[in-house]
Amino acid sequence: MKQKMKARAVAVKVLLRVVVDGRSLSVALPEQLVKLSDPAERPLTQELCYGVMRYGVRLEAIAKQLLNKPLKRKDRDVECLILLGLYQLIYMRIPPHAVVAETVEAVNAIGKGWARGLVNAVLRNFQRGEQKLLAKADSTPADRYAHPEWLLAMIRRGWPDEWQAIAEGNNQYPPMVLRVNPAHGSREAYLQRLQGEGMAATALTALPTAVVLQQPVEVERLPGFGAGDVSVQDGAAQLAAWLLNPQAGERLLDACAAPGGKCCHLLEQAPEVKEVVAIDIDEQRLQSVRENLTRLNLQAEVICGDASRPDVWWDGQQFDRILLDAPCSASGVIRRHPDIKQLRREEDIDRLVALQGEILTALWPLLAPGGLLLYATCSIFPQENHLQIERFLQTHHDATAQSVSDSWGRAMPVGRQLLPGDEGMDGFYYAPLLKSTG
Ligand SMILES: C[S@@+](CC[C@H](N)C(=O)[O-])C[C@H]1O[C@@H](n2cnc3c(N)ncnc32)[C@H](O)[C@@H]1O
Repeated sequence: MKQKMKARAVAVKVLLRVVVDGRSLSVALPEQLVKLSDPAERPLTQELCYGVMRYGVRLEAIAKQLLNKPLKRKDRDVECLILLGLYQLIYMRIPPHAVVAETVEAVNAIGKGWARGLVNAVLRNFQRGEQKLLAKADSTPADRYAHPEWLLAMIRRGWPDEWQAIAEGNNQYPPMVLRVNPAHGSREAYLQRLQGEGMAATALTALPTAVVLQQPVEVERLPGFGAGDVSVQDGAAQLAAWLLNPQAGERLLDACAAPGGKCCHLLEQAPEVKEVVAIDIDEQRLQSVRENLTRLNLQAEVICGDASRPDVWWDGQQFDRILLDAPCSASGVIRRHPDIKQLRREEDIDRLVALQGEILTALWPLLAPGGLLLYATCSIFPQENHLQIERFLQTHHDATAQSVSDSWGRAMPVGRQLLPGDEGMDGFYYAPLLKSTG
């Protein structure tokens, strides 16, 4: 049997998978959590990993002040352990002596016994000089807000008056939001079930099926989760089905469907639609679409394909409504996926903007005259959002932007934008586009 480890050592393994191998936390965590000697340490391990990703830039700046010289590349694990230690000392309520003792102990488990003295000295020196060290980190915006410089600069360019609030919002812990399946009962009835289980929750007023839990829980603990009574989905993502508003007898395309949250919501909301075709380029992620459809007892035609190449997979029958939840920077959901700060690169943004434009242009002919295409991103960058749509409208004269009368978020020149934390929701952009009948 492989050697089992304690929380801090497992957290280092997870962080290495992200910073060295470029895996996302949502993949790396479950993969490494099996190495825990005590499953009760799962929440702690998770908190450590998310915390280091959330505040990594700030923690690195502080570690730099404390190290005489940078650690070698082969010692990234020791560096991760130091960041873990600092994270606990600054942001967690663990007694400092326990933080130092447990973190120093983890050097053996990661096979770097030589670093014992170094980790101990760095953490103790932090305790001694805490105020000065934090003040120095706070003197640089990127370190203060714990964002890579390029990312903070891009947020600032897009939102000159809101950039600080956005950066702070990105560092908040997101609420766990549920979508109640109306076919299985009302939201009020589900709120009562939660109450019966001792889980405090409130209705999210902007949406008829959304419920916000006061404390996140493992999905298996949600009443009726396995039976499809409820799904986990942020309120902002739940807006898609209401905006697309599918009707009985219609044919729908969900282009970029994985892991299937919005696809399932569309089917829950309008079970009498004729057909839903769900496309995604990533076969592995499509497996989650199939699992979600099965759990919720819903049907869709699931196709692995490139949305920018419909010539390869389209049967030639036009769709009444299309959801294009485009691949994007995910800059609106950093609070949920703080590893984005680590994994996303500045040069990705232009590539994504080009891909979004290509997919939009390729899918437009698939929409029937009089049909509706809902363009969506979980981005806050104007170039992925209203600037993208304005460019599309200039070159597609049979397209008009439908006004969104809702009160959530903020009106943009075209479409509506939610910034992270607006009305308790993730950062999202929506633009419904109507195709003329003439
Ligand atoms: C924002 S996610 C979609 C989330 C999904 N709509 C949901 O609600 O669960 C974007 C998806 O686009 C997919 N994707 C990226 N490039 C694509 C392409 N060229 N064609 C089809 N899907 C693509 C990714 O694999 C990813 O699953």
